[in-house]
Amino acid sequence: MPSMGDEEFSRWVDLLDRRTGVVVPPGRKTFLVTGVRTRMRETGYDNFERYFNEVLNGARGAIEWSTLVDRLTVHETRFFRHQPSLQMIAGEWLPGFLKEHPDNQAMHAWSVGCSTGEEAYSLAMVLDSALRQLGANCAYFGVTATDISNAALAIGRSGLYPRERWVEIPEDLQKAYCELVGSDSFAINETLRKRVGFRPVQHHGCCPRAAQKLDLIYCQNVLIYFARDRRKQLLSALADLLKPGGMLVLGAGEVIGFTHPSLTRIGNRQTLAFRRSG
Ligand SMILES: C[S@@+](CC[C@H](N)C(=O)[O-])C[C@H]1O[C@@H](n2cnc3c(N)ncnc32)[C@H](O)[C@@H]1O
Repeated sequence: MPSMGDEEFSRWVDLLDRRTGVVVPPGRKTFLVTGVRTRMRETGYDNFERYFNEVLNGARGAIEWSTLVDRLTVHETRFFRHQPSLQMIAGEWLPGFLKEHPDNQAMHAWSVGCSTGEEAYSLAMVLDSALRQLGANCAYFGVTATDISNAALAIGRSGLYPRERWVEIPEDLQKAYCELVGSDSFAINETLRKRVGFRPVQHHGCCPRAAQKLDLIYCQNVLIYFARDRRKQLLSALADLLKPGGMLVLGAGEVIGFTHPSLTRIGNRQTLAFRRSG
């Protein structure tokens, strides 16, 4: 395989930036080159330029692009990855929200950049158990889980995970929402799986139109891959999708100095969350 020169690298960085908003700094050149090379090997290309043109080539190129993007994005995730954020949802935000909106009949949450679904199912477990404990009058709740990677979304949809990951879920919630499958896997039970809908969404500083405003938006470990101006654009777009009283939860330390006229910072030093006022 040939090595990738600086000009070639810039072309790929540019394409990724334009299409996904994801920034690849020079320090991550090896990561990008490895991903592109692996995919070239799999598809029988030995020339960067020819492969680049293939990716741009109409409908066929779009299919290849979708596979390539999966290789060029980081999908690392875990169930209950950030406990303080989830505890704040169940213990602080939700009780207050229900007190203010006692007749709220439906609750909609969004896991932005959900990877293989662990974050979305964690949210669904937390919301379902908290709504029950609080005796909420809420007849329906659902979580929309979106990601740019179709391969990651397919795993999320299956709701099937390796047995080693079982320990990431608190014991009481394992019993309520998961089932062992053979000796190597476990599944999210059907009732909870029905609460979570997966769909492809590609952000580059904007959001798709939502059919309704959302109560909770959870976006962790995604913004770090975006350029600063795109981050701010995306955050404002997310804020505009919240209902009054709704909450935006980001990864602690992921964004510095973000303000929005309708958002007020809530939570504690371990979390980064904002409540929409009007
Ligand atoms: C590191 S994972 C984080 C998963 C999960 N949010 C968590 O915190 O565990 C980042 C995810 O963001 C997705 N992603 C990256 N750029 C994206 C974009 N422009 N639009 C939508 N999803 C994107 C990746 O495919 C990946 O699954």
